[in-house]
Amino acid sequence: MGRLIIVSNRTPAPGERTQPAGGLTVGLYDAVQTQETLWFGWSGHQHADAADRPVQSEQVGNVNYVTFDLTQRQYDRFYLNFSNGVLWPLCHYRTNLIRYTREDCDAYYEANEVFADRLVGLLEPDDTVWIHDYHLFPLGKMLRDRGVTGRIGFFLHIPFPPWSVARLLPRLDMLLTGLAACDLIGVQTPEDEANLSGCFRAYGLKVAVEAVPIGIDPVSFRQQAIESAASDEVVKIMDTLEGTRLIMGVDRLDYSKGLPERMKGFEALLKNYPEHRGQVTFLQVTPVSRGGVESYRLLKEELDGLVGTINGAYGTPDWVPIRYTTWPIGRDILAGLYRMADVGFVTPLRDGMNLVAKEFIAAQDEEDPGVLVLSRFAGAAPEMPEALLINPLDAEGMADALHIGLTMDVQARHAAWSAMYDEVSRNTAGSWSKQFLDSLEAIRPCH
Ligand code: F6P
Repeated sequence: MGRLIIVSNRTPAPGERTQPAGGLTVGLYDAVQTQETLWFGWSGHQHADAADRPVQSEQVGNVNYVTFDLTQRQYDRFYLNFSNGVLWPLCHYRTNLIRYTREDCDAYYEANEVFADRLVGLLEPDDTVWIHDYHLFPLGKMLRDRGVTGRIGFFLHIPFPPWSVARLLPRLDMLLTGLAACDLIGVQTPEDEANLSGCFRAYGLKVAVEAVPIGIDPVSFRQQAIESAASDEVVKIMDTLEGTRLIMGVDRLDYSKGLPERMKGFEALLKNYPEHRGQVTFLQVTPVSRGGVESYRLLKEELDGLVGTINGAYGTPDWVPIRYTTWPIGRDILAGLYRMADVGFVTPLRDGMNLVAKEFIAAQDEEDPGVLVLSRFAGAAPEMPEALLINPLDAEGMADALHIGLTMDVQARHAAWSAMYDEVSRNTAGSWSKQFLDSLEAIRPCH
């Protein structure tokens, strides 16, 4: 059996290689533990002379992490401007936020060529290459152009919009032609599958697309939550809540996550259900992300203002309704807070999957589980119909769901939780990667 070659823009940082911190690195953790793997990607650093610097390599268990630096120009134009200023808003249906320039688009292809040039010399004929996410749409074709004949799979972790939206992207044909050089493309949901397949059809491109929703490792996360809930740090945080019920949200500071909408939903709870005033605390943990992109900076200003306005309007000298931090908090603490929370509040306007929803369920105490309030537009929603499903544009609807969640009896909470826990346990990170790699092998059994 050949090696597994994972290619992603970001690789786990050196300190996170035994304990992944979030996003796709959590999903892939299981796959890379079980076979000889090379994980290739950007180092997270920029250098003026990046092109002349050798790759960095670290072996951890059976995984060889090989990373390389980008130039400042590549970071700005490939990562910030095109990947996160064009493709991210396009794929999240936020076309008004797209800031396209031909120069950024060219830089995106140039950066993908750098990935291809650096990677091709490391490959062996029977390797299976698995490319991840929107930063690397054209990489499959670039590897084929360099003579790679083995299996190449691609997984898109974010949504893919329908043709009517996707066609706004200049040179969409070039992007999809690059992607179609892969043997199999995995996406998160049947909706993404239909959308991407429709776009391929529009250009007469034939390629296999399969919905394979990503999962978590519920057993280890649950164990972490149990230990964390009893830790000094979590006990100390819970003490500061002085007996109020806990509503919790955890997201990167990203406009796709519906954060201002979430604040307005919580505000509507306080307005429409005054019995909860002074009785609940909403803790929102929102580490700053992609601060080099203007729309992210503007979002932070909006959110800072909203939190201040709501706390000013409803807070009292002895009660702060919203606790909001833009600092990252470790998963070792978050897991315990999820377990202690009465409500998990997950309200994206669009989200590829949303692993926080799954982690919240895995963390719950089965004797007295919390309730998940979940946006219909999270990729996780089709798998979790027992959640209180909401539309994040409807503040009053969110307030109703929060109220229902806060007043639901333990039998109803347990019934909803156990159905979702079964699903989270059935479709795990391990079964996700296995299903994708099995499908890839079935499509291309031999080279
Ligand atoms: O959701 C897509 C994703 O690439 C995640 O896998 C990852 O955790 C997140 O975005 C991080 O984004 P960035 O690498 O831009 O900080």
